[in-house]
Amino acid sequence: MRKIWAALFIFVLIAPGALAYQIPEKGVIYQIMVDRFYDGNQSNDRPFYDPTHRNYYLYWGGDLEGITEKLDYIKSLGVSMIWLSPINDNINRMAGISTPYHGYWTRDYKRIEEHFGDWKAFKRLVEEARKRNMCIIVGFVPNHSNPEDGGEFGSLYDNGTKITDFFRDEKNATVNPYTGSREFIYHHNGRVKNYYGWEMKSKSIFGLADFNQLNPWVDSYLKESLSLFIKAGACGFRMDAVKHMDLGWLTNFYAHAYSEEPLLIYGEYYRLDYGEDADMYDFYRYSNISPLLSIPIRNKIVSTLGFGGSFEELADYLHRYYSHFVYPNKAVNFLDNHDLPRFLSESRSKDGYHMALGLLMTLPGIPVIYYGDESYLVSREGRGDPYNRPMMIFNNTTEAARIIRTLAELRKESNALAYGGFRDIYKSYTTWAFERSFGNEKALIIMNKREARELNFDLNWSDGTYRDVLYGVEMSVKNGRAALKAPENRILVFSYAGKQERPLIGSVTPYLAQPEDRIILGGAAFGKGGRVIIKSGEEKRDARILEWSDGMIVFEMPKIRAKGAWVNVTVESDGKMSNTMKIRYLSGEQMPALLVVNGSYVNATGQLWVKGDIPELAEPIPLYRSKTGYYFQIVSLPRWATFSVRLYRGPAWGELEALNVTLYGRSNSTVILRRTPYSQEGHERWQLYGGLAVLSLVLVILSFRRR
Ligand code: NOJ
Ligand code: CA
Repeated sequence: MRKIWAALFIFVLIAPGALAYQIPEKGVIYQIMVDRFYDGNQSNDRPFYDPTHRNYYLYWGGDLEGITEKLDYIKSLGVSMIWLSPINDNINRMAGISTPYHGYWTRDYKRIEEHFGDWKAFKRLVEEARKRNMCIIVGFVPNHSNPEDGGEFGSLYDNGTKITDFFRDEKNATVNPYTGSREFIYHHNGRVKNYYGWEMKSKSIFGLADFNQLNPWVDSYLKESLSLFIKAGACGFRMDAVKHMDLGWLTNFYAHAYSEEPLLIYGEYYRLDYGEDADMYDFYRYSNISPLLSIPIRNKIVSTLGFGGSFEELADYLHRYYSHFVYPNKAVNFLDNHDLPRFLSESRSKDGYHMALGLLMTLPGIPVIYYGDESYLVSREGRGDPYNRPMMIFNNTTEAARIIRTLAELRKESNALAYGGFRDIYKSYTTWAFERSFGNEKALIIMNKREARELNFDLNWSDGTYRDVLYGVEMSVKNGRAALKAPENRILVFSYAGKQERPLIGSVTPYLAQPEDRIILGGAAFGKGGRVIIKSGEEKRDARILEWSDGMIVFEMPKIRAKGAWVNVTVESDGKMSNTMKIRYLSGEQMPALLVVNGSYVNATGQLWVKGDIPELAEPIPLYRSKTGYYFQIVSLPRWATFSVRLYRGPAWGELEALNVTLYGRSNSTVILRRTPYSQEGHERWQLYGGLAVLSLVLVILSFRRR
């Protein structure tokens, strides 16, 4: 035994610092469409296989074993997380002209698609990735299964046992009296036509059988399936189509995942531009629960660097986008993906592409490199889906690969890039310089689209000469003035690491937590030990520390009496206090619930909101109006809670006006709010009865055993 302790002690002493994937902001994600990457096992290529790689709708052979074989190649780009397109078992038929080579038409969430491998191949990929300090993020599709009107017609299996299909399910569907939705395992409300509100959540997109996640069987099935990946070692998930699921249910789903591991989960909330409307307001509400892909900024970046347009305008656009995030550094940024034309299919400008790659790697947020970004992969046949998914060409010796690798390595070193703020230093139509700074660590990024030019600007860095990491361009700083010659069509990146004077938190993963969840803090100058303090108003708790190093702490979320939606986290080390970051707090074991307000309680028009006196309801939540005369929303509630809510009215982004209505509820799968409070003792009384019931059962069993 003593030997084991000694070995453990040595391990702790020599354990390396934080790995880039443990603190997602330090890392880079590599996105792979599994079928199109590398064929590591020819025995699973068929059926529906096109060895010529001409028909973009058939399988082309890529699989999990192929990815495992190519891990050293992926590693050579400096990336730390690999995001796989969905690998759950997909339908075994064509729907229309397509096979589900893309992985988005699931039939069994507990099995792996046989074209891609099996659980053993997945676990091996996870293990081999871990050996190389990388981890696996899985694409997961909880909004819908597969086409309802073709292929296998929404067939659904639970580890091989058929549960239902769309038409069989329709026979069991009934109308929910409060929401007006026809549903059972699936929703049966037709297709989404207007992309807002309840319609967007309860109708189907592209005719894909849309899950009714409030059905307890669906809820457990999806949670169990997600857990299989967590147990097999996935470090995160890319959640498909989150815009089409209720935030309340998603909160509950994520809380379930986070109670198992501190994962990186990011959602796909589809929205191609920025604007201050109700949809964008919702975008930020979703981002308060988990990171999102930065879809709204992608086109603006590509058009400015690929074609033309003003850096000033781009900078303002980006600042507006970032300004509403609680965690801007958790935005998941990308240039290319499987849904949009690749940059180089849209624009021929390689210089522009290289600058855009540099920008992607240095903006606030976690960069995603789409497979083949490093090798200038485009298809000759077309631009968008499916032609943005050609077979991979492996080449890590390009200029693009050099930029990715250099900046990926810098992100691991530079806390400014991983955790820093975002401030313009200089901007004009053709030139933009911005600074990322985190305490005394800084990075300066300069882009120039015009011919080479001398630049002079104020810069609060120590006097000296700095060398850009990409091209070796020198910048001199003297008395707070910087001078350099910026080359044409290049992005330059300068880095400066001063000594940190106090502990600083830069990253919280995840930032949604319930008591006992593990949370990873990334940052600087944490020293050798100290305290993590959780605060809400006057309430204060010390967290249990599980790991502590200078750049990373792992702690366990304590229970706290929190009033608001967020609690504060601070680190104390060596008598010095850190900055404060926020954690979205869930006050106990969660359950998904339908919250219902009787329409007769409401004497107002316009958008209605609800706000309550428990953390889960502390920020305004929009209510939908049903055809059946109710207002409702899906929320995640702590079990056994009694609470009160108030109603408000007003537009998203505007001032909310309180209506003089207070209503009361108690956790349940459907909570019909009422005018009179529930007694607090209720719960304790039920606990007592429950306890007595269990006790008598035990006594009965014991007495039987004795006989
Ligand atoms: C978004 C995915 O990225 C896309 O490829 C897919 O077809 C849809 N969601 C539906 O799952
Ligand atoms: Ca299959």
